Amino acid sequence: MAQNGSPPPGRRAAVVAGLRTPFVKAGSDFRNLGAVDLGALLVNELVARTGLPASTYDSVIFGQVVPSKTVTLIGREMVLRSQLPRSTEAHTVARACATSLQAATTAADQIALGYATAVVAGGAESISDAPIFASRRLAQKLVELSKARTMAQRLSIITSLRPRDFTPEPPALKEPTTGLTMGESAEQMAQKNGIPRAAQDELAFQSHQRAAAAWGEGKLDGEVMHVAVPPKYEAVSARDNIVRADTTVEALAQLRPVFDKRYGTITAGNASPLTDGAAAVIVMAEEKARALGLTPLGYIKSYAYAALDPRDQLLQGPAYAAPVALDRAGLTLQDMDLVDMHEAFAAQVLSNLQAFGSKAFAEKQLGRAAPLGEIDPSRLNVNGGSIALGHPFAATGARMITQTLRELGRRGKQYALLTVCAAGGLGAAVVLERE
Ligand SMILES: CC(C)(COP(=O)(O)OP(=O)(O)OC[C@H]1O[C@@H](n2cnc3c(N)ncnc32)[C@H](O)[C@@H]1OP(=O)(O)O)[C@@H](O)C(=O)NCCC(=O)NCCS
Repeated sequence: MAQNGSPPPGRRAAVVAGLRTPFVKAGSDFRNLGAVDLGALLVNELVARTGLPASTYDSVIFGQVVPSKTVTLIGREMVLRSQLPRSTEAHTVARACATSLQAATTAADQIALGYATAVVAGGAESISDAPIFASRRLAQKLVELSKARTMAQRLSIITSLRPRDFTPEPPALKEPTTGLTMGESAEQMAQKNGIPRAAQDELAFQSHQRAAAAWGEGKLDGEVMHVAVPPKYEAVSARDNIVRADTTVEALAQLRPVFDKRYGTITAGNASPLTDGAAAVIVMAEEKARALGLTPLGYIKSYAYAALDPRDQLLQGPAYAAPVALDRAGLTLQDMDLVDMHEAFAAQVLSNLQAFGSKAFAEKQLGRAAPLGEIDPSRLNVNGGSIALGHPFAATGARMITQTLRELGRRGKQYALLTVCAAGGLGAAVVLERE
């Protein structure tokens, strides 16, 4: 996509459809499905629902954050395990929690350049199927074993193994630079920015209330497919299973801090949970969408990615990316009818909102004279966010695009801002528009 300008005529990136699986707690309904299974179920359903010949699509851009044990290129698997013709080219993207925003903005770029006209873009995540790694010593010994020529050599290698070499190593959700988990990093942000526990619990409560209301009012049914649950396929997963309509601020206040047990404020209630799920959108050149008689849900108007030192405030990326995306769109925060800020942790959302409104942050960190401004709470995460809906890392961005564009449509409004914080100190922001 052209920066500080519009794409050539007809090459605006229209989002013509979007879909996701239910988002479910890791280890629950989807425990027997991997990310590739979830992604393939979703892509098949999305392509079928859109009703266009499968040959319409030039490419698939797809991602996952936690790698599968056996699949290295999920993008291509989405073609090979779906009804898409095998001649559909594909690639995999990774940008931690902003992975499917990356898929969608790469699709928009390809369309603006004229290199593609219709792209399936999304991501899938299975924490239930996270790989368990062997120890480095066991891996080395297995390589030596494969090279051994004689029985004596083989026996010598096998007898040199010790019980501790067989201890499995689970993948760590740790920031390699700091050695801290996401939760520990968010805890540091809460402390640095003075975000009280009560404000975090209030935000989490609101996320659940709004997500429950959105489901109750039937707003999400049209964007969430049903999944028959293996191995028996007797039960059907039709809704997110993390949303708690009955949670209260009092119940949230009772939960113990998880990441800093003594002085901390982050609990299972005000953090996004470990989640399985998949989501994708179809991004199409405006001209092609019109020629096919499709009414786009909306358009990707601009985007920006930014980064900060992970040793600083790890999840503050949105406060750096959003001003750039808005400038590129030629719009201000006040023009946004809706804002969907990914809720990794309530403390991270509140820290970013604080930075959005801070003159000192604008001057010192961004070199800007004025802050972005305050967000009207009635426009922020209006149908709940990742705390209540769940956060399958690679699927969240595509979930946000579809959910927000459909809500803009219901309200008859025009502009929305999406933001996502991500590992490595990355931040993502996308401006969406409806005509
Ligand atoms: C925070 C975390 C460790 C909690 O995991 P967990 O212990 O499996 O969480 P659970 O769902 O079992 O919840 C723990 C308890 O809190 C309770 N609880 C959770 N949410 C609640 C809510 N909204 N209201 C009331 N109670 C709630 C549960 O009922 C459970 O109670 P129990 O122990 O009596 O059964 C895990 O979700 C996590 O690691 N999240 C962060 C993920 C992350 O790093 N994301 C990256 C973002 S970029």
